Amino acid sequence: MPSARQPMVRMSSVTKYFLDVTANNDVNFDLYAGEICALLGENGAGKTTLMNILFGYYACDEGEIFIKGQKADLASPKDAIALGVGMIHQHFALVPSQTVLENIVIGTDTGRGPFLDMKKARRKLLDLEVQFGLQIDPDARVWTLSVGEQQKVEILKALYRDVDILVMDEPTAVLAPAETDDLFKTLKSLVAQGRAVVFISHKLNEVMDISDRVVVLRGGRVVAQRLTAETNVRELANLMVGRDLLEDIAKKPLEPGPPVLEIRNLDALNDRDLPAIKNLHLAVRQNEILGMAGISGNGQRELSEVLFGLRDPVRGSISITGQPLRFGNPSSAINLKMGRIPEDRIGTGLLMDLSVEENMILEDHASTRFQTWGLMKSKRIHRYSDDLIDAYNIATAGRDAVTKSLSGGNLQKVMLARELAGRPAVVIAAQPTRGLDVGAMEYIHQRILQERERGAGILLISEDLDEVFALSDRIVVIYEGEIVGEASGENASREQIGLWMSGVKQ
Ligand SMILES: Nc1ncnc2c1ncn2[C@@H]1O[C@H](COP(=O)(O)OP(=O)(O)OP(=O)(O)O)[C@@H](O)[C@H]1O
Ligand SMILES: [Mg+2]
Repeated sequence: MPSARQPMVRMSSVTKYFLDVTANNDVNFDLYAGEICALLGENGAGKTTLMNILFGYYACDEGEIFIKGQKADLASPKDAIALGVGMIHQHFALVPSQTVLENIVIGTDTGRGPFLDMKKARRKLLDLEVQFGLQIDPDARVWTLSVGEQQKVEILKALYRDVDILVMDEPTAVLAPAETDDLFKTLKSLVAQGRAVVFISHKLNEVMDISDRVVVLRGGRVVAQRLTAETNVRELANLMVGRDLLEDIAKKPLEPGPPVLEIRNLDALNDRDLPAIKNLHLAVRQNEILGMAGISGNGQRELSEVLFGLRDPVRGSISITGQPLRFGNPSSAINLKMGRIPEDRIGTGLLMDLSVEENMILEDHASTRFQTWGLMKSKRIHRYSDDLIDAYNIATAGRDAVTKSLSGGNLQKVMLARELAGRPAVVIAAQPTRGLDVGAMEYIHQRILQERERGAGILLISEDLDEVFALSDRIVVIYEGEIVGEASGENASREQIGLWMSGVKQ
């Protein structure tokens, strides 16, 4: 590790408390010009917090920060940007109705006096686009751009402000494979020109591909540092979670039974009233995992909304174990024993201001199991939630803890615990492990496989090809609302699936 050179960033003995949580504990972190440093750790390890401190978003309670040798007092992101630090969060902060150029110049003082010199701004933007291979139309409105393109705008926005230290918090979680390749090229060219990048990710293969050095946080502390060339995925996973992960997922060979979920001639519109699902036919059988691969935005969200009773289709029918699903009616799905794991666990899956226990009995609270004549059977409910917290190993202060205090992985476990407790006939799992660390991901994969063995049919909607390949008995690819290819889980090739994902038909 370079030590003779002066680091661009030195965070020294940084500690940060949130009430009784120590999010960062005596952290020393250096970043050098010309390197991509990956910051790893389980959900809740303190990665985002540490970088938010560097970005001036939070003040640390103890410790000091030096940027390019100077002690930095960062009262706000504005101070950090002035010192060359930019951070791109997972949820972008662009104005959808404005153009790329407008988004980029907002808040800068390009030009003369109070007036922006848009000509000069455009020239500077186009120069940056050429320099870093980030081609994007300056006049395109942001809402028309894909997620990958919006991310390019965020990077350009940082570069436009002459940032030379760039932090990217889980930038690839929402990108298609080809977009990830583009991003990596950009990051490489950034550091080749003397800048420095911090790359936060749970995808260890990507970390091995892109980073020069790895720093691992656990429980708010730095527990290990490695040169990427001297480590491997297995060691990194072990350092993050403090134990060995199972290397391969053991999947029992099973003969699938009769269909438990059948979708026929389904058409549905998206929020802009444009066709999102086009004449979709699909069947999932007992003891079967059907993986639906596809780049985000190709109808997956609308499909799960129709299945969950949150969106009315234009046409078509859906049945579960032979019974028709009533559209636009979430309780129909619950009554027909559908386990629902929505993509947006915070928006639609869990009520964040209620307790863990209340979320666990949310769909069942009116059943006689938990109440008679309106009187809740508290003891039984408490035992029930304690058992689930135990079984799923949910890290929480207890069943009474407010749900929003849980980390991403533990939120997902609460949802699984609730949805699988009723022994569903069909499970719809939409992006079930997005943003989760490797330990939580392994756990959820095992639970999904257990459901398959128990006899459920599972529709796994996922953008994560590794996940689709590891779990699926059969794979279909959705593109612009249509199934464009199908393969058996064993014989599918990544190249073929990748081609279908980009719209090349079978
Ligand atoms: N604004 C906040 N208020 C209270 N607690 C917080 C706040 N932000 C973070 N925490 C807590 O600090 C700890 C570290 O959280 P942080 O978001 O930094 O984790 P992370 O490593 O980025 O995790 P993930 O991989 O899930 O994004 C967690 O226990 C989290 O619950
Ligand atoms: Mg984070």
